[in-house]
Amino acid sequence: MDGERILIGDCLHHLQDLAPGSVDLIFADPPYNLQLGGELYRPNNTRVDGVEAAWDRFDGFADYDAFTRAWLGECRRVLKKDGSLWVIGSYHNIFRVGAVLQDLGFWVMNDVVWRKTNPMPNFRGTRFTNAHETLIWAARSPDGRPFFNYDAMKRLNDDLQMRSDWLLPICSGPERLRTDDGKTKAHPTQKPEALLYRVVLSTSRPGDLVLDPFLGTGTTGVVARRLGRRFVGIEQDPAHAERARARIAATPFDADPEVLAITPKRQEPRIPFGQLVESGMIRPGETLADPSRRFAVRVRADGTVIGENHTGRVVGSIHKVGALLQGAPSCNGWIFWHVRQANGHWVPIDVYRQKVRAELA
Ligand SMILES: C[S@@+](CC[C@H](N)C(=O)[O-])C[C@H]1O[C@@H](n2cnc3c(N)ncnc32)[C@H](O)[C@@H]1O
Repeated sequence: MDGERILIGDCLHHLQDLAPGSVDLIFADPPYNLQLGGELYRPNNTRVDGVEAAWDRFDGFADYDAFTRAWLGECRRVLKKDGSLWVIGSYHNIFRVGAVLQDLGFWVMNDVVWRKTNPMPNFRGTRFTNAHETLIWAARSPDGRPFFNYDAMKRLNDDLQMRSDWLLPICSGPERLRTDDGKTKAHPTQKPEALLYRVVLSTSRPGDLVLDPFLGTGTTGVVARRLGRRFVGIEQDPAHAERARARIAATPFDADPEVLAITPKRQEPRIPFGQLVESGMIRPGETLADPSRRFAVRVRADGTVIGENHTGRVVGSIHKVGALLQGAPSCNGWIFWHVRQANGHWVPIDVYRQKVRAELA
């Protein structure tokens, strides 16, 4: 795809060649400065593949901070005024990174916790299992106003606001790059594409320029390509850079604007459930049930629904009653409640809402 570039070498050097204010989104997965002492073995005596590379070693915190200040300063220079910066890290480095980026003038928008569904256990049993990493999302400055694709995040999350704790597995299986022997991990810290998908989709638009100064296996480039963004990645290790280049080039993508376009929710007409009732699509007295048929409610003439739980009868909107019956904090009634069609099939009531929307369009 046009607009993809991989630069081999030190990011401090290559960042200087990028024009000021030219980048829309930066995702950085910098060295963590893990300070690992000695090798780590599992209880079955197999060795844990940790991060032992020279790029993760620094002469103490002051050295690490100076490095962080240098690359973050360059990133701030190349970032557009309304651009976004994301940095991922662990307890080893993320607090230092956070302090440096605030000192440089960045403005923190959120910290996101990536909770791993399958973290590596703490083999020595000396601490809590390290089950998360932290991402900082920052604007270039307090008045930066970075783009946020709120609606896409909400849709991705079944129409509920996307929260700042993301439950995702670590990168494994076929997605994990291996060396030629097919067994050894090609890179110790390959991030899952699903994580980058949220980052890129939430804070950039199709055609935007995405930069990753610590490219590794090229995960950010893969996702940028899938989502129709332009991309520049920097990697100091030529072998990693080549692997990333091949991986990105082999990623299929669909450039159809219809597929990639962002449709703000506000542009879609709001359809209240009552409108389906008054138009006769759903009849008063009709039964709605959840997909497992555990819960059922009856539709009332005014577009509310009535059901029963341990406290007795509950009446209210499709969302409120859905939440009350499940004992959940919230419920998207449009996808929770299903209605039985003439052919005996149950479909979500959202199908009817979409029909009304299509007619209005
Ligand atoms: C934590 S890994 C990034 C992994 C990547 N996010 C992925 O999904 O594969 C950091 C990468 O940055 C590279 N690196 C470290 N210091 C660098 C520097 N000063 N300039 C460019 N690349 C660097 C390392 O070789 C390593 O591949």
